[in-house]
Amino acid sequence: MDWQVFVILQVIFQPSIAVFFTVESEQSVYTSEFGENVVMGCKFHPKPTNLTADLKVTWQWKTSSAAWEVYKMINGVEHSASQEYQGRVKLLTEELKDGWAKLQVSRLRINDSGTYQCLVQTAEGADYKKITLSVIAPYKAVTTCIKKAAGGDELLLTCQSEGYPESPVVWQDGHLQRVKPNTTAETTQDQLVRVTSWIRVNSSDKNNYTCNFTSNGRTAAFHIPDDILDPQAQNDTFLIALCIGLVMVVMIIAVVMYRRRKGFIAQNTRNLQVDRQGKPFTAANCQQMNENEATIIHVNEDLEEENLGVFLKTRYYDISFSREVRHHRGPFSAELSHRLQNNEGQTLKLQALLPEAGETLFLEGPPESGKTAVALILVSSWTEGPTQALTNPLDLSILQLLLYVNCSNVKGDLLQEIGIQLSLPEKTSTQHQLRTMLNRSSEVLLLLDGYREGNQLFDDSLRKFLSERRGCRVLVTACPGHCPVLKDTVGIRKVLTLQSTEDTTVCHQETY
Ligand SMILES: *[C@@H]1O[C@H](CO)[C@@H](O)[C@H](O)[C@H]1NC(C)=O
Ligand SMILES: *[C@@H]1O[C@H](CO)[C@@H](O)[C@H](O)[C@H]1NC(C)=O
Ligand SMILES: *[C@@H]1O[C@H](CO)[C@@H](O)[C@H](O)[C@H]1NC(C)=O
Ligand SMILES: *[C@@H]1O[C@H](CO)[C@@H](O)[C@H](O)[C@H]1NC(C)=O
Ligand SMILES: *[C@@H]1O[C@H](CO)[C@@H](O)[C@H](O)[C@H]1NC(C)=O
Ligand SMILES: *[C@@H]1O[C@H](CO)[C@@H](O)[C@H](O)[C@H]1NC(C)=O
Repeated sequence: MDWQVFVILQVIFQPSIAVFFTVESEQSVYTSEFGENVVMGCKFHPKPTNLTADLKVTWQWKTSSAAWEVYKMINGVEHSASQEYQGRVKLLTEELKDGWAKLQVSRLRINDSGTYQCLVQTAEGADYKKITLSVIAPYKAVTTCIKKAAGGDELLLTCQSEGYPESPVVWQDGHLQRVKPNTTAETTQDQLVRVTSWIRVNSSDKNNYTCNFTSNGRTAAFHIPDDILDPQAQNDTFLIALCIGLVMVVMIIAVVMYRRRKGFIAQNTRNLQVDRQGKPFTAANCQQMNENEATIIHVNEDLEEENLGVFLKTRYYDISFSREVRHHRGPFSAELSHRLQNNEGQTLKLQALLPEAGETLFLEGPPESGKTAVALILVSSWTEGPTQALTNPLDLSILQLLLYVNCSNVKGDLLQEIGIQLSLPEKTSTQHQLRTMLNRSSEVLLLLDGYREGNQLFDDSLRKFLSERRGCRVLVTACPGHCPVLKDTVGIRKVLTLQSTEDTTVCHQETY
């Protein structure tokens, strides 16, 4: 039945309307950010005498064509919500006694926007209110790119960023003159808008250019000619990159052949084939360029991620096949499934260790409970790719990159540590690029193993990163009580625990 009709009928047939039952919204419009939480409130009056016998609260999401039940509680019992909201909604039940039906929605998505209705029914009657939620995503990291036409004077300057809703991009030169760009917009998996804007300028003119994503004023600047590398140096860089790439491919092939001959199953041939196609060096880049144009500075996430992915896999290959991990992976992962629990004490599958896009997950366990071994299982699962379900019950194929950071002895800030620990190649170790890559992609997992608060530089940079990142998934392993501030600031609700084990040989910090 339609709610409006229902409420009218209630009013008409209400035996005693001495007290008129009303519901008022706290605000009629809420605006919140992508990935954040929102609490929407409805005040009902009069309060029912018995909250567990006489109260029904329903939250619905509605458009003219569709409606979902977002949340329902009848007499203190929660009823399963729509799939879209599963695990992301809760009613703040402690506020019911004060006459508040407050709904909290976490990890907001763009398509959570729309009209919500809160309906409250008691023995006194029923009423509802409409509330509008709009989820926005400010434009944050701007990726910039400069390309030069081969032999010509023309430069192509590109800015790209993601947010919601679509933002206009305004370009200015150093004399505050507007420059007219070409701008395209596409929708990402997360329903954000990826806006790409570019202009063409003359490389022999000394000038500065800024692009401004005006919906929230995020800008990036180009300094011409300072930002252009010497073309000769560029050619050399390209050749060096090509050589490194070739050497890497040869190394991977050699390693795989070696393992095969040794009787190992070469489980990462899938990755290898991708690499052999030579993709890292031919991938289409930046924006709609002619083929005869040469790139000068080339910031392309896909290309970088792919290269870095190959690099990391070779680096992790030895961990994956190290005696401990191989020894423990089979029996240990079976044993793990009894010890891995959520905060309600239910046992979980290993797959639960993969955080959702934009989520920070904590894995807590006492010292020696095997947290590092779990982390290394993740690393090896990613490195080897999907294999037989028995030996490798974890599917991490959604991840382009897995960045493993051993936090037992960190000294620098987050990005420095990543760069140092993974000996990232010069090209990607520039903090800006790494940050951009980490911020935007849901295909990246940052795995912080054995984290403990106490190093201010690292702690601050981690908190800053978590507040700015968008899609990146983060898994933190720690001993209980070792990171209270971090858990507080990120507002962690989901903590997995690893119960202790008698067998203490499993857990140790492995250095490589
Ligand atoms: C509320 O109703 C429930 C179920 O009918 C009953 O068990 C409970 O004792 C009642 N509580 C109060 C405070 O009356
Ligand atoms: C470009 O920016 C640099 C540094 O901000 C400044 O020194 C220079 O004068 C600017 N050039 C122009 C043409 O605006
Ligand atoms: C809303 O967006 C999420 C991804 O952000 C997607 O998984 C889901 O299917 C979308 N829901 C609807 C109703 O379009
Ligand atoms: C914008 O696109 C139009 C049509 O494709 C093209 O003629 C023009 O040169 C482009 N401008 C820039 C700055 O790339
Ligand atoms: C760029 O500027 C130089 C010198 O100012 C001029 O000779 C050249 O023709 C210009 N090129 C373009 C493509 O406008
Ligand atoms: C970017 O554009 C916004 C909106 O037009 C403006 O308020 C802001 O000052 C601009 N930022 C810069 C650095 O020009």
